[in-house]
Amino acid sequence: MWLSLLIAFLLMISFINIRKSYAERDVFTALEARSAALFWRDLFIYACILVGSIPVVGSFGWIKSQLELLWRDWLTRRLLSRYLANRNFTRIPASEVDNPDERIQQDIASFCTETLTIAMAVADSTLAFFSFVTILYLISPTLLVVAVAYAIAGTVATLMFGKRLIGMHYEQQRLEAEFRYNLVYLRDNAEAIGLYNAGERESKGLLQRFGCVLKNMYSIVSWQRNMTLFKTSYDYGVLIIPSLISAPLYLAGQIELGMIVQAATAFGTVVGALSIVVGQYQTYARLGAIARRISDFIGKLEQLENQAAQSEMTALEHNATGAPECQATAAAAIATSNGIKTRVTAGGRLVISNLSMTTPDRSHSLVQGLNLELKLGARLIIAGPSGVGKSSLLRAVAGLWLDGSGLIERPDLSDMMVLPQESYMPLGTLRDQLTYPLSAEETGISDARIIDVLKRVDLAELSLRVGGLNAVKTWSEILSPGERQRVAFARLLLATPKLVLLDEATSALDADNERKMYEFVTTCGATVVSVAHHQALIAYHDTVLVLEHGGGWRLVEADEYLASLRKD
Ligand SMILES: Nc1ncnc2c1ncn2[C@@H]1O[C@H](COP(=O)(O)OP(=O)(O)O)[C@@H](O)[C@H]1O
Ligand SMILES: [Mg+2]
Repeated sequence: MWLSLLIAFLLMISFINIRKSYAERDVFTALEARSAALFWRDLFIYACILVGSIPVVGSFGWIKSQLELLWRDWLTRRLLSRYLANRNFTRIPASEVDNPDERIQQDIASFCTETLTIAMAVADSTLAFFSFVTILYLISPTLLVVAVAYAIAGTVATLMFGKRLIGMHYEQQRLEAEFRYNLVYLRDNAEAIGLYNAGERESKGLLQRFGCVLKNMYSIVSWQRNMTLFKTSYDYGVLIIPSLISAPLYLAGQIELGMIVQAATAFGTVVGALSIVVGQYQTYARLGAIARRISDFIGKLEQLENQAAQSEMTALEHNATGAPECQATAAAAIATSNGIKTRVTAGGRLVISNLSMTTPDRSHSLVQGLNLELKLGARLIIAGPSGVGKSSLLRAVAGLWLDGSGLIERPDLSDMMVLPQESYMPLGTLRDQLTYPLSAEETGISDARIIDVLKRVDLAELSLRVGGLNAVKTWSEILSPGERQRVAFARLLLATPKLVLLDEATSALDADNERKMYEFVTTCGATVVSVAHHQALIAYHDTVLVLEHGGGWRLVEADEYLASLRKD
């Protein structure tokens, strides 16, 4: 609807422009005839046309903005939902698509604005060309030929001159995004950097980034200067050339004075219409760069979607031969054709078959040929030196690590909960912190129950301190790491998942609190896989998986493992 309205207004404006050019011509012809009566009449007509055109010309920009916003709305929603679907946001390395945030927020906005600007300019030019080409031809065919030749020469020159600008604009977008990202990174890590008192060191890095931004911008600006010099000469040519041709015709008495004026307008319009590339080149170069950034991003998302579709098929095949499981769980299965396959099973079982993992760059291998089976309620602790691949194994079980081979059978993601060392605190209320990743409405958990759970993890005074469950704070800042870890355990108590993965989830707690948290885990009835360093925690598990550098592993009964440690 808005697009049709926009086109209708464009047609009206172009009609007004033609009427205006005739009215202008009549005014000058009346002057030439020195007829006051004709002059006043024609000037009145001219004024009426101008007044009538005000609402049309005035609303045109507004209609264009409406369309622009609708388009941005649609494009942003689409891209955002594809980016967040299927955990795609965890699978886009910066080396392939830098700063997706900038592409979603800034590039899409510019893309919509500038595409419409260019589309309108093209439509406008086409109309202008057809409106004025006859006028110009009727005044003098030579003028038309000169106009066409002039425009072609200008366009070719612009394309030759300006080719490099698109690449430079692409680079500019990237550099600006990097600079902004570095500033955000500084803000996110303000405390740590402050503790190192490393402001100066960071400022050097930031200034260096900014230096790159400026350097590229300076070269863009000097290219733009050259283009503007060229465009200005080109535009001035348009002012002179028609008089060169039409003035002799007037002097020879072949045309009227008004027609010289009309010839100038018509020549300018026809040349302008034909040389849209010259006129809009800056916009065109910027748009080219932005479109490339957005399409690279969409290309990567498409690749991920295809991979997911393939793995969904594999999962369905698996399910067709295995136990009857619902399709929704099959759809949630994540696996890639080349990597680790994941299959969703009912119940809280975790079965790992022949799992071998490598780092994403394939530079070294982590665990090799791992087989293990945990029944609902079984508890496994993973032991091994730092960097051996404990966290990576948990990532693989959670479906975030696909490099390697083998099969992992586990409950649906909605029946699992992972507690990492750094507990994520979403933006929102205290209640949101506890019911995350669901909202309080979705879970239907009462406030009384939330308060009760807060008490159990020793955070009863927290809700009083911040002013109730509805308080909104920057939780990651105001809570200590240990408090955040206890919030994560409160989430666990409220969610009652079937499979729990704990990755050094109590590292910031004192021994008493740590034992208390592990008692909750033991009594919640879920299957548990945990990574923890304190010997005291081994007793809360029944099996130990010992990982060794180079991919070796062995499974030991917890009692046996404890006994061997005591002997050492
Ligand atoms: N995204 C990654 N790219 C490359 N190497 C990685 C990546 N993540 C982890 N690694 C490497 O894999 C090894 C295992 O890491 P991790 O599982 O975090 O060890 P830990 O046993 O201490 O939890 C480490 O050597 C680490 O450097
Ligand atoms: Mg780790």
